[in-house]
Amino acid sequence: MPDKILLLPDNIANQIAAGEVIQRPASAVKELLENAVDAGATEIKLIINDAGKSLVQVIDNGGGMSETDARMSFERHATSKITTIDDLFHIKTMGFRGEALASIAAVAQVELKTKRRDDETGTYIEIENSVVKKQEPVATSEGTSIAMKNLFFNVPARRNFLKSNTAEMRHIVDEFTRVALAFPQVFFSLTANNQEIFHLEAGNLKQRILQLLGNNYNTKLVTVKEETDYMNIYGFVGKPDTAKKTRGDQYFFVNNRFIKSAYLNHAVMNAYQEMITKDAFPMYVLFIDLDPTQVDVNVHPTKQEIKFEDEKIIYAFVQAAVKHALAQFSVTPTLDFELDASIQQLPSVQQPFTEEKKTAAASTSIFKGFTEKHRAHFIEPTNRSELKHWREFYESRESGVGSQESGVQSSESKEENVQRSMLNVQFSIERPASIHHPIAIGSPLTIHEAILVQLHNQYILTQTASGFILINQQAAHERIIYERLQEAAKGKPVATQRSMFPVTIELAAADTVLLEELMTDLQQLGYMIEPFGKNTFVVQGTPADVNQSNEKQVIDSLLEQFKHFSSEMKFSKREKLIRSLAWQQSVKAGRQLSEKEMEALVDDLFKCKQPNSSPHGDPTYLEFKNEQLEKMFGQ
Ligand SMILES: Nc1ncnc2c1ncn2[C@@H]1O[C@H](COP(=O)(O)OP(=O)(O)OP(=O)(O)O)[C@@H](O)[C@H]1O
Ligand SMILES: [Mg+2]
Repeated sequence: MPDKILLLPDNIANQIAAGEVIQRPASAVKELLENAVDAGATEIKLIINDAGKSLVQVIDNGGGMSETDARMSFERHATSKITTIDDLFHIKTMGFRGEALASIAAVAQVELKTKRRDDETGTYIEIENSVVKKQEPVATSEGTSIAMKNLFFNVPARRNFLKSNTAEMRHIVDEFTRVALAFPQVFFSLTANNQEIFHLEAGNLKQRILQLLGNNYNTKLVTVKEETDYMNIYGFVGKPDTAKKTRGDQYFFVNNRFIKSAYLNHAVMNAYQEMITKDAFPMYVLFIDLDPTQVDVNVHPTKQEIKFEDEKIIYAFVQAAVKHALAQFSVTPTLDFELDASIQQLPSVQQPFTEEKKTAAASTSIFKGFTEKHRAHFIEPTNRSELKHWREFYESRESGVGSQESGVQSSESKEENVQRSMLNVQFSIERPASIHHPIAIGSPLTIHEAILVQLHNQYILTQTASGFILINQQAAHERIIYERLQEAAKGKPVATQRSMFPVTIELAAADTVLLEELMTDLQQLGYMIEPFGKNTFVVQGTPADVNQSNEKQVIDSLLEQFKHFSSEMKFSKREKLIRSLAWQQSVKAGRQLSEKEMEALVDDLFKCKQPNSSPHGDPTYLEFKNEQLEKMFGQ
């Protein structure tokens, strides 16, 4: 029998290897931007067409390549960044595998132009399917331009697998944001379909954060900065009131490399404990610098997962540093000793800061960790036990999120909660049987609207033929709006009230992409919004029956809610939008309602197809029957 093992041709081997490195246009964006940074560029321009499906181009003014290097750069395992295995543990560059360009050339058509500063002419290379098509000298400026065209033109199965342009563009903006955040001293721009979306002048980290994540953070950033001989941490965390419902603005960089780490995220969450609600996500952009020998970046093809030599130290350090920063922000500015006489009377203020107290404070581990050498490694035994359970804590949080995806389960557990909390107050009242069976109008539940009382600006109490019901005003209103919008989405659009003075709003770039995606649906639902240049929109009108004054806030909170739903639920885009709007437009708990408003709300609720539950499955009202009351009163 003949032998059967053959070596794969280069282009096929490259194509297979490329699968790990280049999954979508955004992966190429990351690789090309990182190469430009490694080349020492101070100006990097990213050009995208068709969400990267037809073009991803990066132009830099870095060191450039010689003719031979240019040709070599497309070979697999060809790199100028490491030479020995030892170098792998001292990596200071973003790249080190020598795989990115080979992978890109295996799955796309690539044009490279490059020139070093002292060379007369540059080099032009055209390569596709790993085969060089053309190579010639070219007049070009110092630096490198690499254009990747028609990604996956030779792997149709992968090309078909790409998502919609908006989804792919969102991935691109994410990768661009990560690299641009890590190198604020470098100019970056991003032009998509001939429109410049980002123009980021070189500056400091804070300026870069505001350019990328939005000016809203301007007065809302708390500086984190701690240095020890083992590691440094610096960056910013958002004040607790900027915490969002989505995980969006959270960035960790280790030696300037963006990484994903549930473990370190947990450390930050812990530092915020009690300052934010359990389901909120704080903003952070944190840079950890430590000896490269302490980090293994070679554990994942995309390099976004890394392994620390000793992750517990990093955990304790991150948590302590963020806690320290937050404590300074929340204590210092609010205590004004000059003004508040009552504070002067406090024993801790009156008593002098004695030597004894100083010594006690100096012996705490946090003080030592930040002031003494070799103390950062020391973790208090109490912290150790906390660390042991971090995974459980995290997983239970995560699984909580996961279970909500199934919808049914979450509403059931919520119902259980309601029941449990009612039992706690010693009322064993049956839940209305109707929770799962819509009440038809004209059913025994006839409302006597003569009696309408608002309790705690949150519930409406009204009498029925056989008892009374307690309506949760927000849940009920959400149901009403939800059904109205569902109708509108299917048929006649919601009438728009044109604003006398259209308002211009500016959004963070990622939100711009999202709003553009939602614009047509929003129009159907009564919002007239038009693009108005870079990251800017004009709100020409809002739904006629909704009284909303602050358009910027309306759009911001709408997008935020939409992202929240996107991360937690598997609904269609339109369904998520309708749910977001229903939440956004509803009267919230805490709003005082006039008698007329209560009347309308109760009326409208019972005209709904499914009046008994909110869009998320929470009850909109609880029914109390006379017989139950009589029983309770022992009659
Ligand atoms: N924009 C650029 N300017 C100058 N040299 C470049 C540029 N892009 C790539 N190179 C050269 O080409 C080589 C190969 O690049 P490639 O991205 O394939 O590998 P790498 O960056 O070394 O490692 P990795 O695969 O981890 O990214 C680099 O080592 C570098 O010498
Ligand atoms: Mg590279």
